[in-house]
Amino acid sequence: MMNRIEVCFSPGEYHLYQEEFDLVVVLDVLRATSAICTAIEHGVKEIIPVATLDEARAYQAEGYLVAAERGGQIVEGFDLGNSPFSYMDPALKGQTVVLTTTNGTKAINMARNKKTVVIGSLNNLDALCEWLIRQQRDVLVLGSGWKDKFNLEDTICAGAIADQCLKSGRFFADEDSTVAAKFIFRSSRDNMFAFLKASSHRRRLRKLNLNEDVKHCLTPNNCTAIPVLEGRSLVRLNHERVPSSLSV
Ligand code: MLT
Repeated sequence: MMNRIEVCFSPGEYHLYQEEFDLVVVLDVLRATSAICTAIEHGVKEIIPVATLDEARAYQAEGYLVAAERGGQIVEGFDLGNSPFSYMDPALKGQTVVLTTTNGTKAINMARNKKTVVIGSLNNLDALCEWLIRQQRDVLVLGSGWKDKFNLEDTICAGAIADQCLKSGRFFADEDSTVAAKFIFRSSRDNMFAFLKASSHRRRLRKLNLNEDVKHCLTPNNCTAIPVLEGRSLVRLNHERVPSSLSV
């Protein structure tokens, strides 16, 4: 049986796509979902994504470790921001982190009523695609965009996921957004960093001296963790394939 995979460019268009899917992959390549994948890969136990600063402050008042980013910068009064490098800190191993970001955590919260919500990035691209191909379910890939608008980096990553899934022969796509994402990915894949010179958020992050973060976020397959939403938290999905010699 063939399954369908489609790309929704931004939360502003989510209502047009969401009804037909119960498995959603949320992307915010620069930088929320790259930071979440990095955190889970490096042993953070769970991330609680919240959409608003008020929710983040309520968790902070209860004693939680809280990360908050707006406009690319750490919000004053919070412990952490959204740089993937800050989540490699061994002191965070086994910890719970509450996270709010400009776009990424809003998109995750929009999708949270779905049966399955997983977190994607270029960082976990192959592991995620391999898992998606095995699910035999329709997949919606949701880009976080920038304040409900289209962005290039999430579209590239969405196109990479669609391309890999379509190549498996187990998926089809109907929407022009999916075809466009695939072609944008194919035009950019040889040098994503240069391709994104024109992107608004890359320019924003460059002004904040965050080019190293951008390079990390654009590196495919530097991790295998797939964060999945369980209740209010993102935790590591146990997706390792059982070797066939061990299967029953
Ligand atoms: C977001 O959620 O919009 C981003 O992750 C912003 C950033 O920190 O680069």
